[in-house]
Amino acid sequence: MIHSFSNLLINWYNNNQRDLPWRNTSDPYKIWLSEIILQQTRVNQGLPYFNKFVSQYPTVQDLALAPEDEVMRLWQGLGYYSRARNLHECAKSIVKEYNGKFPDTYNELLKLKGIGKYTAAAIASFAFGQAVPVVDGNVFRVLARYFDISEDIAQPKTFTQFFNVANELIPQNQAASFNQALMELGATICTPKKFDCGNCPLAQDCMARIHHKQSELPVKKKK
Ligand code: ADE
Repeated sequence: MIHSFSNLLINWYNNNQRDLPWRNTSDPYKIWLSEIILQQTRVNQGLPYFNKFVSQYPTVQDLALAPEDEVMRLWQGLGYYSRARNLHECAKSIVKEYNGKFPDTYNELLKLKGIGKYTAAAIASFAFGQAVPVVDGNVFRVLARYFDISEDIAQPKTFTQFFNVANELIPQNQAASFNQALMELGATICTPKKFDCGNCPLAQDCMARIHHKQSELPVKKKK
């Protein structure tokens, strides 16, 4: 069952993924940039910003050397401007303290400014192949529905529970694809309201589908 979850998911992803520029690279700088941009932003809105940043600042050194106001101007329109300030600070510290090279493990990445568990896992798996699961809103939704987990995802301790579930499922040698695939399924098929179970590779054993609970999961209580 666990075997089939990951295999079905990755297989589906290999045939159905959207072609996105940060998926065709293992450069941690570009992966990091894309993940910061996409944190509170939809793919379609973030895409032109990603392309602008990469062409203006092809490397983390270029970004680190850029004047603060230029970086802020390039970010204009994306909102949540602390992301841009942290981005710039993080670039400077990678150049200064890490010799311009991104750390290559989850635990080291976590020490950097603006890099939380989600972003550290994304960089560690996409750039370095480390088998650490990403847990974002998409992952919460897919796993909550598939396994019928009704813990409140607004509670911090629930993060650990979902992290552990994903950690059991993630294949050591296909960590990047597994993580991308889980997010992609949540973004395109296992969506909040218009879930498309007819096209879902995991539908057969999905507890929420079987018990008609898709719209009740995940549970997110107001704080
Ligand atoms: N949203 C956040 N990270 C993403 C990624 N790597 N691909 C697509 N959408 C995302």
